[in-house]
Amino acid sequence: MKIIGFNGSPRKTGNTAAIMKSLLQGAQEAGAHVENIHLRSYHIEGCIGCERCRKDKTCTQFFDGMHLLYPKLIEADGIILGSPTYNYNVTPWMKAFIDRLYPFFDFTEPRPGPYTSRLADRGKRALVFGVCEQVDPKEMGYTIVSMQDAIAALGYGMSEPLAFPAHFGPQSASKSEKEMERARKAGFGLVQEFHVIN
Ligand SMILES: Cc1cc2nc3c(=O)[nH]c(=O)nc-3n(C[C@H](O)[C@H](O)[C@H](O)COP(=O)(O)O)c2cc1C
Repeated sequence: MKIIGFNGSPRKTGNTAAIMKSLLQGAQEAGAHVENIHLRSYHIEGCIGCERCRKDKTCTQFFDGMHLLYPKLIEADGIILGSPTYNYNVTPWMKAFIDRLYPFFDFTEPRPGPYTSRLADRGKRALVFGVCEQVDPKEMGYTIVSMQDAIAALGYGMSEPLAFPAHFGPQSASKSEKEMERARKAGFGLVQEFHVIN
């Protein structure tokens, strides 16, 4: 089993990175092969809505880092998406990544109308988490819901999302044994869910 983590924070060693590391450690302990991807380390253009992917079934507008990530998404059984809150939403890196998953959708004619995803019905599962400074998790705004709804639309079975509020300094989460353990357990649980649900 392969689980890939996609970290949407621009900070390579910040809170999202520490939480992602613990999640993947838990998944590894449960028997999965894991890979940790820092989205900002890939060049990912924002989708420009040319809609060519509807016909081409991949992005033929930009030949950028997404073309390294598309095969990984096809291959991975499970994915973990993590983003800090930037103004009540995900970071630009996470948003660009999610928007560029649009080529996986198949759209029937005439439009508007129903759509399907070529990543659906493959037993794939996903877990998303958000990190923010404010103590009240409501201050996370749409961070979790924007990842959760987009990945669910792609046909992934969704695990319970995780919120990590009250983390500001880049080492705040890594210094919290409790948070690291919560993440490790959730990563372990994600792999176990495959055996229970699939
Ligand atoms: C541009 C920007 C916008 C932010 N907006 C919010 C916000 O709306 N709510 C909040 O609680 N924290 C906000 N934060 C704080 C970050 O979410 C917080 O510091 C987080 O721990 C950063 O995670 P990282 O270390 O993985 O980068 C913002 C930070 C930046 C730089």
